[in-house]
Amino acid sequence: MIFENILVDQKEKFAIITINRPTKLNALNIDTIEELNQAFNVLNNDISVKVIIVTGSGEKAFVAGADISEFANFNVEEGTELARKGQELLFDFIQNLSTPVIAAVNGFALGGGLELAMAAHFRVASSNAKMGLPEVSLGVIPGYGGTQRLAQLVGKGKAMEMIMTAGMISAEEAKDCGLVNYMVEPEELLPLCEKLAGKIVRNSSVAIGAAIKAINANYTNCVNGFSVEIEQFGLSFGTKDFKEGTTAFLEKRKPNFE
Ligand code: COA
Repeated sequence: MIFENILVDQKEKFAIITINRPTKLNALNIDTIEELNQAFNVLNNDISVKVIIVTGSGEKAFVAGADISEFANFNVEEGTELARKGQELLFDFIQNLSTPVIAAVNGFALGGGLELAMAAHFRVASSNAKMGLPEVSLGVIPGYGGTQRLAQLVGKGKAMEMIMTAGMISAEEAKDCGLVNYMVEPEELLPLCEKLAGKIVRNSSVAIGAAIKAINANYTNCVNGFSVEIEQFGLSFGTKDFKEGTTAFLEKRKPNFE
């Protein structure tokens, strides 16, 4: 896959997507969002890809936000469409993928950058990462799901504080409040994400996809997460992976999932 603003590196069982606009601190312009949508879509449909890691190029930034130069002159309708389209193409899209997505936060993750990291299924940060939703300092609010996902991840009070102050928190603070699962030195960031990917790929991709659906259900309006869990649990019993996983356990061998 060849793109202008992102790099895709496909390994044996997982893939790394790198947002590659280092001179703009990897800011998300509309072209980059469209390329990311295409890349995530292709990788999600490739059964050999069991995990997707998303990161930013360079050592300074994961993503420093939506590209401010692109929307500075937008009117109400254009602003609404920017958020709607972005959420549909990238942020909700990633959250609902059946392939697990890990965000490797390697520096500034601000505005749309933090929103991208939060749309991933979980996050790992390097010690130099700085995270925040500074939109109100620009006279706007987070529009790529930030008001919802930040409160889900860190709690309402902390999300209110971070959004109102437009401040940045360190990787250590992000780890303490549950925004990221791990904090490591920069050179350890991708190795740790790859190690976590290695643990995930041993398991049933079909079951993982069902678990993502059930977990996400709790964060979806008008959907009963417990009902979705019952449905997905039941459906698991009809899969080849279930037969293989339970048979392998009873035969005291490692499962060989397709
Ligand atoms: N949109 C567009 N361009 C951006 C950008 C963004 N969100 N973030 C950084 N850039 C660009 C800068 O304009 C600059 O481009 P230039 O060299 O052509 O002038 C380049 O990236 C480097 O950024 P710079 O501000 O010079 O780096 P810095 O180290 O002084 O500051 C930040 C780093 C992250 C603190 C600062 O770039 C910043 O505040 N960015 C905006 C963050 C933000 O508000 N994001 C939310 C957007 S909704």
